[in-house]
Amino acid sequence: MRQIAEKTQQFEWYSRYEAFAGVLGNHMGTGARVLQVGCGNSPFAADMVAAGHVGEIVNVDISATVVELQAKVYNSLPATVSWHVGDCMALPNSAPFIEASFDVILDKGTADALMCGGDTTANVAAMRREANRMLRKRPVSGTTTAPCFISITYGDPKSRVRWFSGTEEDWDVCVYAVEKALPHKALGPVQVSGTDDWQDKTRAWESDVYHYVYVCRVRMNQQSVM
Ligand SMILES: C[S@@+](CC[C@H](N)C(=O)[O-])C[C@H]1O[C@@H](n2cnc3c(N)ncnc32)[C@H](O)[C@@H]1O
Repeated sequence: MRQIAEKTQQFEWYSRYEAFAGVLGNHMGTGARVLQVGCGNSPFAADMVAAGHVGEIVNVDISATVVELQAKVYNSLPATVSWHVGDCMALPNSAPFIEASFDVILDKGTADALMCGGDTTANVAAMRREANRMLRKRPVSGTTTAPCFISITYGDPKSRVRWFSGTEEDWDVCVYAVEKALPHKALGPVQVSGTDDWQDKTRAWESDVYHYVYVCRVRMNQQSVM
């Protein structure tokens, strides 16, 4: 029993959903179809549901252990929330991983984890490519202003902008800083793609008191509209 109790304990990297709810709400509606990559054993999806999210939340993690635990711990959540083993750098090509079918790809700490391993450039590029492949290329009414990859990280703009802006995906990227402590005040957004002044605007954010949220929106003038 003790082992099971220990195993079912949840662990959240960075802050809980409530810290980011305001920023996320600027970019996704409660009906958004969300793919959370590297969900871990975090309560984030459950917190979204508790806060009123009614759209599908597909959770994927490379660890079969955490996926199995999440499915057990959250078996009373609505059927709109599902748990899957998979690699965010090479997602399956079967349901629910349908190309161009998600409004939001959500990453909290998974790009950070990839950056701590070897082959960082190739791995982060593969993650971005898969996220872009899974994103719709135009918004569905009431789900987003633009389909987007959202990365929540400890990495400040100086260390992260180059991983998300000016890449092959040609995303329109902005960044927020969110205070780690209550009341989790959010600063921004600051536009980082197509501008030169983001470094000046975010220099004061280089501090341990913040987490950062990068919102990478699909440009609506892309050719491959679906
Ligand atoms: C830093 S933890 C973050 C977990 C959770 N998102 C949170 O905020 O608490 C990173 C997670 O990414 C998962 N992960 C690492 N590489 C992955 C990959 N290639 N595909 C899917 N998940 C991966 C790990 O198993 C781990 O659960």
